[in-house]
Amino acid sequence: MKLVCLLLAFILFASTIAKNEVSFGGWSPIDINDPHVTEIANYAVTEYDKRYGEMLKFEKVIKADTQIVTGINYRVTLTASNGSSYNNYIAIVWEKVWMHFRNLTSFTSAHA
Ligand SMILES: *[C@@H]1O[C@H](CO)[C@@H](O)[C@H](O)[C@H]1NC(C)=O
Ligand SMILES: *[C@@H]1O[C@H](CO)[C@@H](O)[C@H](O)[C@H]1NC(C)=O
Repeated sequence: MKLVCLLLAFILFASTIAKNEVSFGGWSPIDINDPHVTEIANYAVTEYDKRYGEMLKFEKVIKADTQIVTGINYRVTLTASNGSSYNNYIAIVWEKVWMHFRNLTSFTSAHA
């Protein structure tokens, strides 16, 4: 009986933690003039070019949000040039600074 109570308490506790993590998962806007945001955007374009053999050139950041996960997700709306025209893209970069880890997890065209 005691064990069942302990188990129930644990399940309640665990689900409370899980709920808190969900509320931590929201996106919040950040300053697009922060040099680190520029660096993240530049990294996203460079990494995209490297991965897919494209020749995009980073121009400027239009919008940026972060999300706290295990580390930080940056969602950056940016303008890049392909040599003949300027287009907008949305890049998601996952960074864990303390592990020197950074990865481009998504790079899609932003249809304005
Ligand atoms: C650049 O992008 C425009 C618009 O998406 C496209 O029409 C054009 O072919 C592209 N140019 C190059 C060099 O990829
Ligand atoms: C980086 O992200 C891409 C796309 O989501 C994924 O395929 C790749 O495994 C990731 N690399 C690392 C080191 O996590």
